Amino acid sequence: MNTMKALLERKSVRSYTGDPVTVEQRDQLLKAAYASPISMGQYDSLVLTVVQDSKLLAQIDDTAAKAFGHEKMLYGAPMLIIVSTQVKGDASDNSPYSNAATVIENLNLAAVDLDLGACHIWGAIAAVANDAQLKQTLKIDAGLTPVAGLVVGPTDDAYADRDIPKNRIKTNILD
Ligand SMILES: Cc1cc2nc3c(=O)[nH]c(=O)nc-3n(C[C@H](O)[C@H](O)[C@H](O)COP(=O)(O)O)c2cc1C
Repeated sequence: MNTMKALLERKSVRSYTGDPVTVEQRDQLLKAAYASPISMGQYDSLVLTVVQDSKLLAQIDDTAAKAFGHEKMLYGAPMLIIVSTQVKGDASDNSPYSNAATVIENLNLAAVDLDLGACHIWGAIAAVANDAQLKQTLKIDAGLTPVAGLVVGPTDDAYADRDIPKNRIKTNILD
């Protein structure tokens, strides 16, 4: 799949077959994450946590359900990739948040290329960030904050050309 095709066909997939992501697919996804641009090349400022253990996925889902009152915020996907980084609560956080979003979008486009479903996940990640015990269970350092996530997995939902509305995002062109 070429890059523009992947970009235009990408959509948030919220239904999964329940089949696992293969090791080869996982390797390809991670390769895409590692290819991501990162502010000042500080790759060691981020940690990825790849959750495939169904009990851990269920624990994260339960925690998110308690926090938000919605069930199945991971949509039954067999994999959740969490990006954790250091945030300070000031304007300098722009970089770590942007780094995380960039890694997630690389992963998402790689998922499309592999014909796997994927969806950015903020809600469940916020719930994990607020649960020190769960962070510890997921081996996320106490000094790091989970800030972004992506669920990935085989799906029966097909990618197809999408009609992207023009001017969807307000754009000022200064000629
Ligand atoms: C930062 C971010 C967080 C998101 N968090 C969630 C989420 O927690 N759950 C969810 O179902 N979708 C989530 N989404 C997906 C958006 O709802 C979706 O991208 C948007 O509605 C556009 O739809 P599309 O992705 O199908 O084009 C998130 C997207 C982004 C970029």
